Amino acid sequence: MKISVIGCGYLGAVHAASMASLGHDVVGIDVDAAKIGALSEGQAPFYEPGLPQLLTEGIASGRLRFSTDIADAAGSRVHFVAVGTPQMKTSGGADLTYVDAAFTSLLPHVASGDLLVGKSTVPVGTAARLSELVEPTGALLAWNPEFLREGFAVQDTVSPDRLVYGVQAGQQASVDLLNEVYAAAVSADTPVVVTDFATAELVKVAANAFLATKISFINAMAEIAEVTGADVTQLADAIGYDARIGRRFLNAGVGFGGGCLPKDIRAFTARAEELGRGESVAFLKEVDAINLRRRQRALDVVVEELGGSVYRKKVAVLGLAFKPDSDDVRDSPALDVAVQLHGLGAHVVGTDPEAIPNSQRLHPQLTFGTLDEALDGADAVVLLTEWKQYRALDPSAIAAQVSQPILVDGRNALDPAAWRAAGWTYRGLGRR
Ligand code: UDX
Repeated sequence: MKISVIGCGYLGAVHAASMASLGHDVVGIDVDAAKIGALSEGQAPFYEPGLPQLLTEGIASGRLRFSTDIADAAGSRVHFVAVGTPQMKTSGGADLTYVDAAFTSLLPHVASGDLLVGKSTVPVGTAARLSELVEPTGALLAWNPEFLREGFAVQDTVSPDRLVYGVQAGQQASVDLLNEVYAAAVSADTPVVVTDFATAELVKVAANAFLATKISFINAMAEIAEVTGADVTQLADAIGYDARIGRRFLNAGVGFGGGCLPKDIRAFTARAEELGRGESVAFLKEVDAINLRRRQRALDVVVEELGGSVYRKKVAVLGLAFKPDSDDVRDSPALDVAVQLHGLGAHVVGTDPEAIPNSQRLHPQLTFGTLDEALDGADAVVLLTEWKQYRALDPSAIAAQVSQPILVDGRNALDPAAWRAAGWTYRGLGRR
């Protein structure tokens, strides 16, 4: 099938390459000429395992191309809109400028019977509003939220754990076209939820709100553990054995960041307030507040271990990305803690396998280096993103490299007994 993907950011680039790998004939369109230039040469503009290979294969097969011209969407049967919905500074609500611009520029190029599919995360009510613009063209509109996780984006797109189609009542043609698009991605067991626009829009924000709440719940338990001498990691294991609760997303630490969870819970709160239902999701403000407090807690533990001040102390910050297997530093707790340590006068050397260029761009005042450059002569080591190479560090070997063997494990990712046995002062968050 001929498919266009409007917006080649994180979501759109992965979607376009994945659709081509499923056998479709795809054009990815974006207004950013530099991005389109890189993608056309098979280069991913960000780190995502598996994506460069998919781009190269797609381009070589002739099934994948990129363009800055929206007119190139003409002739496609299905048009995905995957542009960003960033947080507005003033209200915390979602900025729909890019979504509106994408639809307005796309509509003159669609034909009657084409299907326009929104993939962006939007405030509930957006699809209904856009459908009024789409209707006069004779095209169809569906909302098909995306649940991909960074680091697993390709896998999540080519074999999704569920599909959600928000369609207008009675529009079986939209369902049929979406089924055709995803035919090679689903198995007989893949759940497909066919629903209305509002439910589809809400599924996405509800899922992210739930995940954020789960993380802040365990971080709240970490706060209680810290004043009672309990251990949040054991607590998470013990409650996680209850299948109704489950162990996943119960890792306490410096909390959640990235381009989705923080922005989405704020946008959801803002939208609920507009709808006069602010009280229904008021708890999300607390979820956000608990999450941000963990960054301060990590900072306090470092200051405490360094005798009350980090001034002129060398601090090795291990990890800058908001999570492992990503170079994304949007709203990254790790980078935030590094910046705050620097602000307190510490000589911070930040290291990360992939996220140094993005960190440098945002915070050129910080020093970045290799793992060895960070560790050499450090007065304290702070682990903030649990890359597997940091989990695998040998505590005895690096004890000889640092100036003082003080480790603050902001992700509770290391084995306290092993580090203590090697002579380290080990501090986790909410952990004995
Ligand atoms: C998230 C959702 O998981 C995904 O379904 C949605 O489509 C986009 O938002 P992503 O932002 O890629 O995906 O990251 P995710 O793996 O959810 O992690 C989010 C943040 O939570 C990271 O900063 C991570 O370190 C943190 N986290 C996660 C915890 O602090 N503890 C946990 O137990 C799990």
